[in-house]
Amino acid sequence: MSFRRYWYIVAESRELRRNQVLARQVLDEPLACFRAADGSATVLRDRCLHRNAPLSRGQVRDGLLACPYHGWVYDGAGKVTAIPSLGPELRQRHCLPPYPVREQDGFIYVCLEREPAAPPFPMPHCGEAGWHTLRLQNRFRNTVENCVENFIDIPHTAFVHAGIFRSSRAERLQAQVVRRDGSVLVRYANERSNLGSYRWFLNPRGLPVAHTDSFHAPNVTSVEYRIGAKVFLITSQAVPVTAEETLVYTDLTYRFGWLNRLAAPFVRRYGQRIIDQDLEILDLQMRTIRRFGREFRDTPADHIHRLVDSLRDAIARGEDPRVLAEVSQDIEFYV
Ligand code: FES
Ligand SMILES: [Fe+2]
Repeated sequence: MSFRRYWYIVAESRELRRNQVLARQVLDEPLACFRAADGSATVLRDRCLHRNAPLSRGQVRDGLLACPYHGWVYDGAGKVTAIPSLGPELRQRHCLPPYPVREQDGFIYVCLEREPAAPPFPMPHCGEAGWHTLRLQNRFRNTVENCVENFIDIPHTAFVHAGIFRSSRAERLQAQVVRRDGSVLVRYANERSNLGSYRWFLNPRGLPVAHTDSFHAPNVTSVEYRIGAKVFLITSQAVPVTAEETLVYTDLTYRFGWLNRLAAPFVRRYGQRIIDQDLEILDLQMRTIRRFGREFRDTPADHIHRLVDSLRDAIARGEDPRVLAEVSQDIEFYV
């Protein structure tokens, strides 16, 4: 297995308009994305076959992408359909094979290899009646590993997000952590209503809070809170742009009943405010790691992250993370 065999988001569907080309990068690979004549998304290596100019600087007309240098024209299958210097007759055959592409849940996904390891992760409750989804994009100056660790890490919330998400109260939190089938699932047993200044909205009546977190190899995290009839999910797909830059697509998905619409601006602001704080601490962390190297020490709360690393390490070794043995452990820590 290799990281190149997984699906990565290159754009939200709405971002890739007809007659437009987007420059993207995934796992260091520069990509040119456009919509073919039939509207389907096409992703090509961002290098013209002729003299290697970047196709993402070209122009799209009627679903055909023209290179900015000598005007070779590519269709949605990567086939060169016109070479201006040859005149009206096309006497040469050239093809730049497109990468596998999927469009799902309002996202365009690319896989850099012919045979993807698994289908794209289905975004929970996307477009379902009664549910509302808000979509955020953020560019982290850190690795995918350190980003996903942060997204399902509780102890930092009392410090990085002090007051707005949680506050430090030295309460004992217990959880069951399971690694199974390429995923890590964390079920908190006694989550409190320690939700900072937003408690009045999320849990005004102080109901029990059901909280589960999960990681799905290689790059998806999901955080789920259920409070009475209210459900709030934060699902993040961390796309490796380069080794130290990660573009994160986050869906804030919720079911708040009649409050769904009213809550949207508030949920967006709240979500982005928390992510802004993580952007800053992850940038600082990466600068330090760059300087001194990465060498971590663990507490029981970090057991989650070790299991996540074990799945990603398996992929790096060329193995399928789904075949790693199932493990289950109870942990407890204070927050
Ligand atoms: S480099 Fe693209 S047409 Fe020449
Ligand atoms: Fe955070």
